Amino acid sequence: MIIGGGPGGYTAGIRAAMKGAKVAVVEYRDLGGVCLNRGCIPSKALIASATQYKNMKEAEAFGIKLVAPPVYDWLAMRARKDKIVNMLVSGIGSLFKSHGVTHYNGFGRLAGSSHVVVTDENGVETRIKADNIIIATGSRAANIPSFPIDGKRILNSDHLLELENLPQSILIIGAGVIGCEWACMLALLDVEVHVVEMLDHALPMEDSGTAQVLERELKKLKVNLYTKTKVESITGGPAGVQAKLSNGKIIDANQALVAVGRSFNTEDIGLEEAGVEKAKNGSIPTGPDMRTNVKNIFAIGDVRGEILLAYTATHDGAVAVDNALGEKRTKNYAGVPSVIFTHPEVASVGLRESQAAKDHQIAIGKFPLRVLGKAHAENEIAGEVKIIGDKKTDKILGVHVVGIHATEVIHVAALAMNQGLTVTQLGNLIFGHPVISEAVMEAAHDLHNASVHLAKKRV
Ligand code: NAI
Repeated sequence: MIIGGGPGGYTAGIRAAMKGAKVAVVEYRDLGGVCLNRGCIPSKALIASATQYKNMKEAEAFGIKLVAPPVYDWLAMRARKDKIVNMLVSGIGSLFKSHGVTHYNGFGRLAGSSHVVVTDENGVETRIKADNIIIATGSRAANIPSFPIDGKRILNSDHLLELENLPQSILIIGAGVIGCEWACMLALLDVEVHVVEMLDHALPMEDSGTAQVLERELKKLKVNLYTKTKVESITGGPAGVQAKLSNGKIIDANQALVAVGRSFNTEDIGLEEAGVEKAKNGSIPTGPDMRTNVKNIFAIGDVRGEILLAYTATHDGAVAVDNALGEKRTKNYAGVPSVIFTHPEVASVGLRESQAAKDHQIAIGKFPLRVLGKAHAENEIAGEVKIIGDKKTDKILGVHVVGIHATEVIHVAALAMNQGLTVTQLGNLIFGHPVISEAVMEAAHDLHNASVHLAKKRV
């Protein structure tokens, strides 16, 4: 029995069925979870629309004359996003049918360690016995009392996806992944954007070199970014909302987006009754085999609080299913990439420079995209690839990419790290030409001062 039908839960359900288990997934909203309905997919559909709009505005750079400036239709963009989401949601339903996974449409709650009670929208309860239970209930946008989200003027990202009209101006609290992705998308759609981040730089979890490049590009998009600054209070104001920042500045905007992290969906799911332990922050701790403190109850994905990503949730699900069905398997996060759909895109794998330098003697290779023919052909020359290697062993410690297609380019580096390759081995691969990924090969060569496309370095 799997509680939650997001990218952790629904894939675990199919995998368990493929392995011959009798399996049911309980989900009270649409299958696909946050990722498909309110996160990864809808935001990427809208980002694709915003990028098309930008490309059209720059048509002349490609030798295309427009007879009139392009105009976008937000509601049509939203409708396109909904169509994509609906198609994919129904796809999961079809996969469930084809693999024989039962979907209970209702709210699932543990009732002891081997039962789940499903309550449907009419309050009708069904009690199901299961040998193994997987908790995959995910997370939701965090609600902070000082920023009272009302869905009208103070929003979270769920609300933004469903706006009837885009605001003329917005204040974004938090320059993490959600804050930065939305800042870029809205700026591309001509919204005046202010972003406030209390830590040192935008995307504080990424390498500071990457952040530097991104911050430069945010400036070009006319995004006003305030780092090392807190939003102290937010109230109604003449434009809609008024924020007081810790640097004394007052910002007026039509609406505000709160993007300051997430809370875990672990309330009311019967954890106490089943004896499942919860951490202080509300997440459910597990071992590397995904077992909670109760042997036949597993937890996977965001709810574990380790990494909040759709694709690690899917991996967790596979590990939990294999263990539930009698195999012995532990998670393997070696080479998990981070992929962020800002403009330009940001992606990374492994350690940041500041982390790597703590335990290793490091060497750095860098290659700017503006040297690549393909980047010029695409009219997107901002960005770079940076590789951090271990001076002694030549092992790859981290790879950081910012620029067009970064979220695709990173995967060659992710595989290399997953397989424990050296920087030399990565650079020795013959890359296709002309592709943006060549920058990975060139950065690997640069780490040994051997990139033929960079000027000679003075030592
Ligand atoms: P986050 O943890 O990435 O960023 C929140 C940011 O808000 C942090 O940088 C924090 O320092 C800042 N902050 C907190 N309180 C603040 C305050 N009072 N004033 C100013 N700044 C403040 O959380 P976010 O962006 O909400 O994303 C949630 C999760 O969703 C993340 O864990 C992320 O991994 C995931 N996600 C992943 C995506 C991807 O992989 N492309 C896309 C979107 C979300």
